[in-house]
Amino acid sequence: MELLDALNQRTSVRSYTGEPANPRQMEAILAAASEAPVGMGRYDSLHLTIVSDRKLLAAIDAAAARLFGDPSAHPLYNAPTLVVVSSNAEGNVASANVAAVIQNMSLAAVDQGVGSCYIYGATRALAQDPKLVAALDLPDGFAPVGSIALGLTDQRYAPRELDAKHHIASNVVA
Ligand SMILES: Cc1cc2nc3c(=O)[nH]c(=O)nc-3n(C[C@H](O)[C@H](O)[C@H](O)COP(=O)(O)O)c2cc1C
Repeated sequence: MELLDALNQRTSVRSYTGEPANPRQMEAILAAASEAPVGMGRYDSLHLTIVSDRKLLAAIDAAAARLFGDPSAHPLYNAPTLVVVSSNAEGNVASANVAAVIQNMSLAAVDQGVGSCYIYGATRALAQDPKLVAALDLPDGFAPVGSIALGLTDQRYAPRELDAKHHIASNVVA
């Protein structure tokens, strides 16, 4: 798929069939993570955890629903896979790196026909719960910063006209 088509068609998917991406699709998506730009080239400040354990996904989903004050919510949208991106860096650079990595994975997901959604709120709930963090088995010093939900979906990526909410204002200083 052409890059500009992937950029245009990428959208946050919040409805999943329950079937995970196949190994070839996952390989392509995870490879794209390592192609992201990372501040000072510190790729060793990042760590990916591929979570497909249903019990752990349900526990993260429930912790996020509690944090949002809506026990009936499913902030992970029943996606079968969550890739948690963790960092051991201090400050804003950690979120900037993680965002670049997640964006790369979301574009690769479009290319692979796999649904994806950037998950920040539920990652915050996860990061606040020591038991959930321990279940990720992260290297020492790493903490979850952002995640991407992945899975097959009945939703089809298609060319889209961006709505008004997508407009980012700009000005020119010449
Ligand atoms: C930093 C960041 C955090 C986000 N967190 C969430 C989230 O927790 N849950 C969610 O459903 N969408 C989340 N999103 C997706 C945005 O809501 C979405 O990208 C935006 O509304 C534009 O829609 P689109 O992705 O379909 O173009 C997040 C996006 C970004 C960049």
